[in-house]
Amino acid sequence: MTCNMSTYCTVITIILLLCKNNVQGIVPAVYIFGDSLADVGNNNYLQLSLPKANFPHNGIDYPGHEATGRFSNGKNFADFLAQNLGLQTSPPYLSLSYKSNNSSVYLTGVSFASGGAGILNSTNSGECISFDQQIDYYLTVYGSIVQQLGTVQAQDHLSKSVFAIVIGSNELLHYVKSNSASKETPQQFVDSIIPTLQGQLKRIYNLGARRFVFMGTGPISCCPALRAQNKTNECNAGGNYASVLYNQAASSLLNEMSTQFTDMSYSFLDTSTVVMQYIQQPSAYGFTEVKSACCGLGDLNAKVACVPIATYCSNRSNHIFWDFYHQTEATARMVVSTAFDGSAPLVYPLSIKQLTS
Ligand SMILES: *[C@@H]1O[C@H](CO)[C@@H](O)[C@H](O)[C@H]1NC(C)=O
Ligand SMILES: *[C@@H]1O[C@H](CO)[C@@H](O)[C@H](O)[C@H]1NC(C)=O
Ligand SMILES: *[C@@H]1O[C@H](CO)[C@@H](O)[C@H](O)[C@H]1NC(C)=O
Ligand SMILES: *[C@@H]1O[C@H](CO)[C@@H](O)[C@H](O)[C@H]1NC(C)=O
Ligand SMILES: *[C@@H]1O[C@H](CO)[C@@H](O)[C@H](O)[C@H]1NC(C)=O
Repeated sequence: MTCNMSTYCTVITIILLLCKNNVQGIVPAVYIFGDSLADVGNNNYLQLSLPKANFPHNGIDYPGHEATGRFSNGKNFADFLAQNLGLQTSPPYLSLSYKSNNSSVYLTGVSFASGGAGILNSTNSGECISFDQQIDYYLTVYGSIVQQLGTVQAQDHLSKSVFAIVIGSNELLHYVKSNSASKETPQQFVDSIIPTLQGQLKRIYNLGARRFVFMGTGPISCCPALRAQNKTNECNAGGNYASVLYNQAASSLLNEMSTQFTDMSYSFLDTSTVVMQYIQQPSAYGFTEVKSACCGLGDLNAKVACVPIATYCSNRSNHIFWDFYHQTEATARMVVSTAFDGSAPLVYPLSIKQLTS
């Protein structure tokens, strides 16, 4: 039996190509909805928006050391999600609609995420694009994709795409900060927002989404802004409990939907548990500062946002938090890595890798 070198190389090359395709899966696009943890610049286009990050020291570790509107020293959840899928970060919807009418840009992914956004229209109303409004924008994108590809091909494109949702932290923040005498219990609070979330997820499903990625809320009371309100700088247990309950309810909702709609699948990340591990065993994850924000002013650098007059730490990769509310690039990279490759109880019933292969 003879086999020359060039045949051998060809076979090896084909095997390598097959492996490469297999690893990356077939994901034409990421459509992403949510708040400042995923905003890649939509709020830059909102005149009246207070939650903005398009000024230094944000972006200090971003390519070109550029403040892009990301609430981070560098990349955020949206960037690492795209990167793990072998895609470019989906551009902000408002950057597309302002520039051109060429709807083919929608085929490679769009980000609707907006700093300050919540499940309820009333959350930071007028300062951001609420989740409902984000879905209204997606309806326009959907219409344009159907017009361009036809119904059958559009459905095929969307069913292979990832629909990522990062929402709930702003309602939790308002709940934790509220001092009203008639304050709801954590369970009542969660029960008051889950029906709205249910309608929103179903609406996205009805507009072609089949692969969902849902990033749960983190241990909210451990963010520097809320720690600074506790005399001993501890994480207030009540807020973290509300976040755990919200995550349980959101994952039940997705589980119910996937039972009802058998062509739908999802990946749920328990961000609370993942980030709590960093806080409780920082050295195991390369962190040395779990309480203070890197950028800000005052107690825990948490009394002022990361504005140009604020100071910032020299080593951003050993801090969990970039500013008083948001994670560093280092944290976002690790969180998404767990979402992509991890397993239950951190990410379930599928990792993002399993969801997309
Ligand atoms: C986009 O289309 C609208 C009408 O559909 C038109 O008014 C507008 O001028 C167009 N913008 C560009 C940049 O072509
Ligand atoms: C629309 O954009 C795509 C690439 O984004 C380009 O290939 C195509 O030629 C454009 N179409 C028009 C009509 O400008
Ligand atoms: C929230 O705003 C959207 C428009 O973006 C509207 O369609 C919806 O009815 C509003 N929801 C509530 C509960 O007011
Ligand atoms: C600080 O947090 C701890 C842990 O939840 C709690 O026991 C304590 O009451 C809090 N103190 C204040 C002033 O909020
Ligand atoms: C920054 O922190 C990381 C993680 O703790 C550490 O590996 C690295 O050596 C630090 N860099 C500098 C310049 O101190």
